[in-house]
Amino acid sequence: MTWRMRGLAAGGVLAAAVTVSVVAAATEAEDHAADEIRRYRQMLEDGNPAELMEMKGEALWREARGPKGASLEACDLGLGPGVVAGAYAQLPRFFADTGRVQDTESRLVSCMVALQGFASAEATRDWYRPGSDLEALVTYVATQSKGAPIRVPVSHPEEARLLAAGGELFFRRSGPLDFSCATCHSQDQRRIRLQDLPNFLNPADARASMVTWPAYRVSQSAVWTMERRLIDCVRQMRWPEPAFGSEAIVALQVWLQHQGEGGELQSPGIKR
Ligand code: HEC
Repeated sequence: MTWRMRGLAAGGVLAAAVTVSVVAAATEAEDHAADEIRRYRQMLEDGNPAELMEMKGEALWREARGPKGASLEACDLGLGPGVVAGAYAQLPRFFADTGRVQDTESRLVSCMVALQGFASAEATRDWYRPGSDLEALVTYVATQSKGAPIRVPVSHPEEARLLAAGGELFFRRSGPLDFSCATCHSQDQRRIRLQDLPNFLNPADARASMVTWPAYRVSQSAVWTMERRLIDCVRQMRWPEPAFGSEAIVALQVWLQHQGEGGELQSPGIKR
């Protein structure tokens, strides 16, 4: 139970107590948010901790690992084997060798399996752990697109299919709360407490959001990739939690990247 729910539950018992506990709770929330924003500003002055993840990712990219003792340097992220520069800005995209549209996360997993000989379960096991290898690799790959405009291809029929599916998922209301992504993300200047909610129907907002992932999240003290961000939004909607690398999550990214097309990448970002 959160402090807020505790405050409300206590209210059932004594009306006076409710007022006091709710007011106290509101002040506590404001103090907490103000503290976080202070930490956030300080963080920006000191540099982005995600840069450490970028360095870790680069080392992992070059290191001979796995049963095959190979590095990822021959990994094809869509622009040819070993080409990292600009690749993130054009993902997700269709890959003929796997027959799937893949985002950066799932493509890296395919390379870890094909080149390094990892089992796929092994490659994804710790994806959610702060500082995980996958998060570091995605951060490294994304930073190599700094300044590149987002331009995801939609010429392959599978890419076009996922773009359409992503748009459908964005607007479809479902789950016990009857939420869609659009419930929270389709109006300008919306906020939940002090958190800005980007309006993904507004290209300027969509670009501003999509160019800053992966991001160091001050509230979590961890770098999150876009997959993680989306899986967490879905979880908050009380929809069944999608698996890492699932087609639904990739489809949402195709659609979101499409909305943010033309934005120049600034990864890694720093967020609340
Ligand atoms: C109940 C409201 C709610 C719903 C529904 C919701 N989100 Fe979010 N979303 C948030 C909040 C709040 C944040 C910002 C979190 C923060 O600042 O800590 C966020 C952040 C995001 C971001 C990152 C924005 C940035 O900071 O750059 C993306 C992308 C996103 N949501 C996509 C989605 C998608 C796609 C869906 C549907 C699957 C969805 N959200 C559903 C509340 C929601």
